[in-house]
Amino acid sequence: MANAVNTIGVLTSGGDAPGMNAAIRAVVRTALAKGLKVKGIKRGYAGLLKEEIVDMDAMSVSDIVQRGGTILYTARCEEFRTPEGQQLGAEICKKHGIDGLVVIGGDGSWNGAEKLANLGINTIGLPGTIDLDIACTDYTIGFDTAVNTAMEAIDKIRDTSASHERCSIIEVMGRSAGYIALWCGIASGAEDILLPERYDGNEQAMINRIIEHRKRGKNHHIIINAEGIGHSTSMAKRVEAATGIETRATVLGHLQRGGSPTCKDRVYASIMGARAVELLCEGKTNRVVGYRNGDYVDYDINEALAMKKDIPEEQYTVSKYLSR
Ligand code: ADP
Ligand code: F6P
Repeated sequence: MANAVNTIGVLTSGGDAPGMNAAIRAVVRTALAKGLKVKGIKRGYAGLLKEEIVDMDAMSVSDIVQRGGTILYTARCEEFRTPEGQQLGAEICKKHGIDGLVVIGGDGSWNGAEKLANLGINTIGLPGTIDLDIACTDYTIGFDTAVNTAMEAIDKIRDTSASHERCSIIEVMGRSAGYIALWCGIASGAEDILLPERYDGNEQAMINRIIEHRKRGKNHHIIINAEGIGHSTSMAKRVEAATGIETRATVLGHLQRGGSPTCKDRVYASIMGARAVELLCEGKTNRVVGYRNGDYVDYDINEALAMKKDIPEEQYTVSKYLSR
């Protein structure tokens, strides 16, 4: 059967995430395998509006599967939030013969993808964000690498924290979502995990627990604080004043977004990239690819964006059992 599209564009948008390169590579090579042309759009929607568009071939994506970041660069673009910006974006796609587009980014980027789909560009979204904060999918490109990076950093902080018999507050990314904090907290055996979705602001209860742990002979106390709660430095000062235990805050920051993607991020991103191209070849548009209950799936973008996500209750309960 003939492909429904002839030329596929691919862009990365929003925060970069390890595995985005694997996804780009899969889009390019799958498209080439199907006899399509591929164009890379640099710097997300900002680059689209500036026509930063380059032809891509198999060699353009050589030696990138193992690299963090995104070779197409990424950006945030206020102009694309306006109807005029979106109209211009669709016109530029048409001018360059792009009749199918793969947008790799978070749900903000998917909102932009939906606008382009409505303006006649067949568009598919892939979940690219370290935050895991997209409701329709159990997996997002970059989360696995980010939590492994953060976990290794937390293990290191634990060594020095234990040696000095300190309390350590370690702030991890996740915008307003606590998935990175929860996973890192469980994986690194944290004594407290503060999630924006669950935190009741009762710092005194945490302080009481730190004192009680110390009485029980624990020589250190690791608190994983999610970015959505933040204020780790001032929290550390208050904890130190209330407990008498030296307390240090570390904000892990952007190191969590970099680094060579894990095997999982490379493989899942590759399969999702290929799936996006297959959907475009079938004439599908306004859809996003996800991974749910053990399968790669695709959803209508609007349905996906309307879905709600919360911290899985079982994971949260387990974290509570283990943090003592
Ligand atoms: P992420 O994709 O990681 O969630 P952002 O929320 O920053 O990141 O969104 C990335 C970009 O997607 C924005 O800078 C903007 O260009 C575009 N975007 C976000 N929301 C919309 C929207 N409602 N309509 C059109 N474009 C949007
Ligand atoms: O969405 C990914 C993310 O790293 C969030 O966890 C964080 O809140 C945000 O991006 C930081 O964005 P910036 O790169 O603009 O500092």
